[in-house]
Amino acid sequence: MREKRAIYPGSFDPITNGHLDIIQRGLKIFKEIIVAVLENPKKESLFSTAERVAMIKEIFASEPKVKVKSFDGLLVDFARKNKARIVIRGLRAVSDFEYEFQMALMNRKLYPELETLFMMPSLNYTFLSSRLVKEIYMLGGCIKGLVPETVENYLRHKFSKITT
Ligand code: PNS
Repeated sequence: MREKRAIYPGSFDPITNGHLDIIQRGLKIFKEIIVAVLENPKKESLFSTAERVAMIKEIFASEPKVKVKSFDGLLVDFARKNKARIVIRGLRAVSDFEYEFQMALMNRKLYPELETLFMMPSLNYTFLSSRLVKEIYMLGGCIKGLVPETVENYLRHKFSKITT
């Protein structure tokens, strides 16, 4: 194995069991995965960058092979800075493909040594997205099995603050 480290970037607002599934699959291939949480002031997020990083750190507290960092600016610059040449992205359905294809090829143009590796999550998670989790939770639906308990706690805390 030539590449020991991979980056798994995303908004993770919040991280879901689908993301965890991809990380677990990635750990079968790489010795270290850096979960790179996008810090994007233009993109409205429910959780702050610090909260998203804290949640993921808590979830992987006993897994030293998973590191969690935030980044702003270009992903390719983050990859260079962290000496990583593999980016992992999850592909749930054909509808993900066009955006992912465009991003992978643009990243390759910016950093030719960077490879994007697409991984398919378990079928159980192909319908899952952070956006749907937030919507279901806000409308009082059940999100058991869709996110880790840590995320459920953060959601509960966030909405108790918003509604009181
Ligand atoms: O979870 P998401 O929102 O699908 O993740 C998208 C992410 C963070 C991978 C993408 O927006 C990104 O890499 N942003 C950093 C800025 C950048 O490098 N833009 C050019 C991409 S070709």
